[in-house]
Amino acid sequence: MKRGILILAGVLLLFAALAASYLFSQTYQFKGSILSSPIKAPQIMLRSVKGPVRLDDFQGKVVLLYFGYTSCPDVCPTAMADIKLALASLTPEEAAQVQVIFISVDPARDTPETLGRYVKLFQDNFIGATGTREEIDWMTDAFGVTYSIEPPDENGAYSVSHSAFTMALDRDGYYVMSWAHGAPSADIGEDLRHLLKEGIPVSAKILAGPTYTPVVCAVTLAPAHVQSGQWLYEHHCAQCHGLDLAGNPQWQTELADGSHLAPPLDGSGNAWKISRNDIFATIQNGRNLDKPIHMPAFKSKLADWEMEFIFAYIQSKWDINELNYQHGFMTLTPAPTKTPAAPIAPFSTVTPSP
Ligand code: HEC
Repeated sequence: MKRGILILAGVLLLFAALAASYLFSQTYQFKGSILSSPIKAPQIMLRSVKGPVRLDDFQGKVVLLYFGYTSCPDVCPTAMADIKLALASLTPEEAAQVQVIFISVDPARDTPETLGRYVKLFQDNFIGATGTREEIDWMTDAFGVTYSIEPPDENGAYSVSHSAFTMALDRDGYYVMSWAHGAPSADIGEDLRHLLKEGIPVSAKILAGPTYTPVVCAVTLAPAHVQSGQWLYEHHCAQCHGLDLAGNPQWQTELADGSHLAPPLDGSGNAWKISRNDIFATIQNGRNLDKPIHMPAFKSKLADWEMEFIFAYIQSKWDINELNYQHGFMTLTPAPTKTPAAPIAPFSTVTPSP
C-alpha cells in the first residue's frame, strides 16, 4: 500500500515536472505585432545634430524607430514618453543596447537642430534625424509608413497626419515588429527584452506555428529593392557579369597574368559562398585593379544603398540554401546544388572600364 502511494506520488511529480518544462519551453508571445516577413532597413543617410545617421550604423543594437514631427501636439510626445518608460523597465545593460531614433517627416520645419533639442526633452541619447523629402519618402515607402501634410490654416500653420506606431529593427537591421500607438510601455519593455535576447521574432512565430520547417529562409528581399537593383545591375554590372548573371563562360580559366574573367553572380558561381561584407568590399574597392582584366571599384560611382539594391537583385537569383548559407544561417557547406557550367562558349572579350 505504502509502496503504491510512493509510486503514485512519483508519477505525479514526473507529470508536474514535464508540464513545467513544457510551459517554460513555450516560445514567448510578443505583445506587439510581428511582421510576417521582415524588411531590411533602407540605407539612407539622414542628418542629425550628432552627424549623419544611417540605420545600418546601429547593427548589433535594437533600433526603435518613430516617424513624426516636432510640432505634433500630442501623439508624438506621448509615444516618445512611452518609449522612455519602456526603456526604464530594462536593466541599464539592456537599455544600452537599444537606440531610439525619431525621424521627422516634416523637414520644412524640423531642422537637425530642432530635432536635437526635441529628443533631448525625453532622453539625452535619443537621436532626432531628418532628410530631404525624397530621402524621407524612400524610407517611409520601404517601411510602409504613411504621412500627409495637411493644408495650412490662415496663419500658415499646418499639421501632419502620420502612421503612429513605434517600429523595432532587430540587431541585424531588419524591421521585424511594431507597437500600435498607446501600447502599454510595460509590454514594449518586455518585448524589447526578448527581442534583445532571442532576436528575430518572426522565427519565434514560425517555430511556434504548425508549419515549422528546419530550413527557414531568414532573408527577405523587398520586391522594390530587387526591381531597382535589376535596373542598376543592368547599367553597371551586366556588361561583364552578363545580363543573366552567369558571368563570362571562361571565368574559371586563369589567364596568363593570373587574372580572371568576370565570374557568375548567380548560384552557379561562388558569390553566395562569400560573406556579405566581403561582397560589398569587392564591389566598393574592386579586385585585381592592377590587372588589365579586373573588377572595377564602384565606391565613387554608386551610393551604398544602390549597392544594397544590386545585392538584393543578385540574392534574388540564389536558392534558399544559398541565401541561408551566405547569411550565416547554415554553417555546413551544402552539397553543391548545381554543377558549374563547363566552358563551352567561344572566348568573348571584355573591355574593362578604366
Ligand atoms: C569591367 C568588368 C566588370 C564590371 C563592370 C563589374 N565586374 Fe564584378 N568582376 C569582374 C571581374 C573580372 C571579376 C573577377 C575579379 C578577380 O577575381 O580577379 C569580378 C568579380 C566580382 C565579384 C566577386 C565574385 C566572386 O565569385 O569572387 C563580385 C561580387 C562582383 N564582381 C560584383 C559586381 C557587381 C555587383 C558589379 C556592378 C556594380 C560588377 N561586379 C561590375 C568584372 C566586372
